[in-house]
Amino acid sequence: MSAPTDLEALKKEAAIRAVALVQSGNRVGLGTGSTAKYAIEEIGRKLAAGELTGIVGVATSEASEKLAREVGIPTETLDPRLLDIAIDGADEIAPNLDLIKGLGGALVREKMTEVQAGRLIIIADHTKIVSRLGEKAPLPIEILQFGFLSTVERLREILPAGRLRHTGAQPYVTDNGNYIFDAQLPAEMDVRALERRLKGTLGVVDTGLFLGMAERAFVAAPDGVQELT
Ligand code: 5RP
Repeated sequence: MSAPTDLEALKKEAAIRAVALVQSGNRVGLGTGSTAKYAIEEIGRKLAAGELTGIVGVATSEASEKLAREVGIPTETLDPRLLDIAIDGADEIAPNLDLIKGLGGALVREKMTEVQAGRLIIIADHTKIVSRLGEKAPLPIEILQFGFLSTVERLREILPAGRLRHTGAQPYVTDNGNYIFDAQLPAEMDVRALERRLKGTLGVVDTGLFLGMAERAFVAAPDGVQELT
């Protein structure tokens, strides 16, 4: 198994491969998390070096917005215009590139931004590869604070093994002021049917299922970066 520092190097390597796809003048969706951070830094580095010009970033979280500003990427908020490309991490990557995202809490802004991107490029280290979604990570589901106990009860009828995410003693609050319910997925789950059912559940804002969205993934392992399509 890789030491933590090795994993960081791998994540950075995957990010650099993805940023190579960004072209001058692109509107770029900036993902969230410890891997997406390397992509944002690399875009900033390329802008500073003159290797890229005219980039506009659309950040998927307050944290990524702040980092983008720090590294010199001009940002705009999401509007109806399409993005050329978005680069983001993932919590799980299935063989068909379906994803679980949202352990970092930014799933709603990520999904809203990334559905508008012509290309969604995923970057990760090899530990994120799974044979089926839910194998390792829970599925984050963002829910309104209002009536959250009722929403949690409804969700437990669908996914009994799950709990409200906490930071210490307090429920975790997203950038949108909502809560997150983290649910274990049973094996043999039809994730498309699940997504429809969850999206039809009162109080649910959105889920961390990113189905059929990713164009490719750069997955870094000790023996090199693998490109999955
Ligand atoms: C945030 C996300 C992240 O992309 C996901 O959690 C992966 O993060 P990391 O690169 O830190 O492992 O979905 O909402």
